[in-house]
Amino acid sequence: MGRLDDGRPEMAASLVSTRPRASARQPAPSSPARGRWVEHWLESLRDIDALRSAHPMMDAVIDEIDGRMIRVGDQWLADFASCNYLGFDLDREIIAAIPAFLEQWGTHPSWSRLLGSPVLYEQIEARLTALLGCEDALVLPTITHIHGSVIPLLAASGTIFLDARAHKTIYDGCQVARARGAAVRRFRFEDPEHLDELLGADRDSVRLVCMDGVNSMTGNAPDLPAFAEVARRHGALLYVDDAHGFGVIGERSAQEPCPYGRRGNSIVRHFDESYEDVVLVGGFSKAYSSLLAFIACPTEVKNLLKVAAPPYLYSGPSPVASLATVLAGFDVNERRGDQLRATVHRHSARVLDALAALDVHTPNRSQLPIVEIPLREHTRIDAVGRMLFARGVYVTLAAYPLVPKSEVGFRVQLTAANTDAEVDVLIAVLSELAERGELQSASQHEAP
Ligand SMILES: Cc1ncc(COP(=O)(O)O)c(C=O)c1O
Repeated sequence: MGRLDDGRPEMAASLVSTRPRASARQPAPSSPARGRWVEHWLESLRDIDALRSAHPMMDAVIDEIDGRMIRVGDQWLADFASCNYLGFDLDREIIAAIPAFLEQWGTHPSWSRLLGSPVLYEQIEARLTALLGCEDALVLPTITHIHGSVIPLLAASGTIFLDARAHKTIYDGCQVARARGAAVRRFRFEDPEHLDELLGADRDSVRLVCMDGVNSMTGNAPDLPAFAEVARRHGALLYVDDAHGFGVIGERSAQEPCPYGRRGNSIVRHFDESYEDVVLVGGFSKAYSSLLAFIACPTEVKNLLKVAAPPYLYSGPSPVASLATVLAGFDVNERRGDQLRATVHRHSARVLDALAALDVHTPNRSQLPIVEIPLREHTRIDAVGRMLFARGVYVTLAAYPLVPKSEVGFRVQLTAANTDAEVDVLIAVLSELAERGELQSASQHEAP
C-alpha cells in the first residue's frame, strides 16, 4: 500500500489552505532546473496533487465568511471543516476584548520567550495550570513546535513507543529524536496490550510512549487509563497530544450538560487520571481559535524546557491578538463553555443519529464532533467532493495516500457556531450520498 514516507497512513487534517488559486492551478513548467526530487514527490502524491490542482474543496481560497457560512468564488457553503469547536473565532465578547490588549502591547512583541515574555504569558500559564489541575504548564506557539523540540528531549537516546497512527507532527518529532540517537518502535493503534508486549520486551532505561488523545480522524478518545497503567507499570513516561480534546472534553460531573463532561479541561481530567508520569500536550488553535499551544508538565521539566527547547529560545512568539483570545477565551469558557459544548454535542449527535438511521459507517463511537465518512469506492472522491460542494457543504477531503484507500472519504466537524439549518443541509446531502450507494454500509462493516 502506497503511503507517505515510511508506510504510515497520514492524517487528512489541514488539507484546506488559502493559497492564491491562479498560480497554484497552472501546470508546473517542465524545466531542466526542476530537480528529480520534485518528480519523485509528485509521483508519490499523484492522487492528492490531482485533487489539489482541480478540486474546488482543496487548496481553496475562501473569499468571505458570514458566521459558519463561507464563500468560495460564487458559491456559499456551510463550513464543516472548521476546528473552532467552541466558536470562539466568531464570539463577539472575545473579539471585543482584543483591541485593549493591542493598545497595551502592540501587535507583536517579537522577543523570543527566553529574551522576554509579556506578563500575559504568566497569566495564561497560571490559568491553564488551574484549569487542567496539573503541576505547571509552558506555552509555545504551536503543538508542532512542541513535538519537534520536546519529544527529542524527553526521549534522549532511549526508546520511543509510537502509536502506529499518531498524528504526523508527533511522528515528525519522533524522527528528530531518532536522528539524535533514540530508537522508535510502533505499537498498534488502540492496542494497549501490544504496547505492554513491546515495553515488556525492551530493557532501555529511558522509555517514552507517544500517542494522540482524541483522534483527529476517528473522533474517538483512546482508553487513556489502560495506556497510562501499562506505561507506569513499565516505568515509561506517557506523552499525549490532545489537540482536539482540549476545550471539548473535560471532567465528568453529575451536573454535566452533555457527555463531553465539564470545563473542557482535556483528556486526563476527562478520565479522572492523574498527571503522574503523564505529559499532556494541547493547543489553543482548535477549540480556542488562537495560535498558541501548551505542555502540562512538572515545574522542573518546565524550567529545563526554558533552556533546552529551541522554540522557547529562538522562535518568534504568538501574536498579541492570540494571547488576548486565549485570556478572553478562558473567561468565556468558565461562564458559557459548558453551554457551547452542549450545542456541539447536539449537532454531532444529530449527524451521528442520521448516519445510523441510514446504515452509514463512520468510525466515530464517541459522539465527539469529528465524523469521518469513508467512501465505498475510493476513486469516487473527486465526484463526491464536487457533489458536496455543489450542494453547499464544505468538508475536509481525506484523500489517498494521506489515508489508506479503504478510508478515503471526507471528515465532517461540528462547531458551536454551526446552525441547525446548516446541519439540516448536511444531513440532507449525506442522505442523498447514502441513497446513491456512495458510502460504506455500517452493518456490512461490522459483519465478520
Ligand atoms: C492531533 C494534532 N496534533 C497537532 C496538530 C498541529 O497543531 P499546531 O497547529 O498547534 O501545530 C494538529 C493539527 O491539525 C493535530 O490535529
